[in-house]
Amino acid sequence: MKFDDHKYSGVYKSQIQKVDVILNSLLKNRKPKSLYEPCSYILEGKGKRLRPFLVLVSAKSVGGSFAKYYNAAAAVEILHNFTLVHDDIMDNSDKRRGRLTLHKKYDVNTAILAGDNLIALAYECLLKDSKKNVSQVVSTFTHGIIEVCEGQSLDKDFEVRDKVSLAEYKVMIYKKTAALAEMCCILGGQLAGCTKKEINALSSYGKNLGMAFQIQDDLLDIIGDEQEFGKKIGSDLIEGKKTYLFLRALQKAKSTDMGILQKMVKQKGIERSEIENYKNLYIRLGILKDAKKEIEHYTKLAIKSVTSLRNKEGQQLMIWLANALINRNK
Ligand code: IPE
Ligand code: IPE
Ligand code: MG
Ligand code: MG
Ligand code: MG
Repeated sequence: MKFDDHKYSGVYKSQIQKVDVILNSLLKNRKPKSLYEPCSYILEGKGKRLRPFLVLVSAKSVGGSFAKYYNAAAAVEILHNFTLVHDDIMDNSDKRRGRLTLHKKYDVNTAILAGDNLIALAYECLLKDSKKNVSQVVSTFTHGIIEVCEGQSLDKDFEVRDKVSLAEYKVMIYKKTAALAEMCCILGGQLAGCTKKEINALSSYGKNLGMAFQIQDDLLDIIGDEQEFGKKIGSDLIEGKKTYLFLRALQKAKSTDMGILQKMVKQKGIERSEIENYKNLYIRLGILKDAKKEIEHYTKLAIKSVTSLRNKEGQQLMIWLANALINRNK
């Protein structure tokens, strides 16, 4: 991520370090090792810690202070890590954050249970920071989890469906990814006791940022560098995923290109050796440019959402973050 060329990258790094302190100490001295070692393994991976930062900047933007919400910030990261562990089983992924995925490092049963435990640990952390409006905060958090599960279910449904529209795709990515980003922003606002109007602004920011984020994740699956991205390139095509790129290609393809696209649909995925052919087709059809435009579109909407927030440093951090993410390579 191009996070090193701006004054706010220092704020990002220092705040994330505070969250990491909690993540590193949370599982110390817990038993059995067979459960906690895999839980630690996923949390120790070099994630961007985007979601905890969303909680913190959102709280800040409505007049809260960073320091009060590190446990809640840790909670959303733990929750996110649960979704990754189970997502990697569902997507047959063997690499994440440049390392073996949890179910490859250990086994599937271990990864299922580690994921389950991570949800509970996330609630344990969340409750430490939500003394005042606990029912509101817990219901926001819970709603976020339900959305992710619904989105993940749609994602899997679409793998085996012949026809999926871009509108359906957008509902799916809203649920599997953007809803969690939105939840983080609402959570930060609620913890800091903000107004209804502010919740709407934060919700719109998180949602649009999350949409941009998932389309970019789809894009990086094709143009990313495996070392930087930390995941295997082309995995979405291998799994037969209906990504933004694929669905847009279906829209723009001439009849002569339909064969190759339909092949992925019919066979429910492609071979690794074929990835390059699809990438070349995407380039020829201008799909990579379309994806970038779509990412910029959602990023602009995110930035527009925060103009009225009362704390200017918080607001500027949110604008910086949205712009910085456009240039991310991991
Ligand atoms: C990966 O999330 C899952 C998606 C929603 C695309 P991140 O790209 O934020 O993963 P980490 O936490 O930085 O590893
Ligand atoms: C991310 O979708 C959704 C969740 C993890 C909930 P992906 O399946 O595209 O995420 P990556 O690419 O494996 O990180
Ligand atoms: Mg997935
Ligand atoms: Mg995946
Ligand atoms: Mg992906």
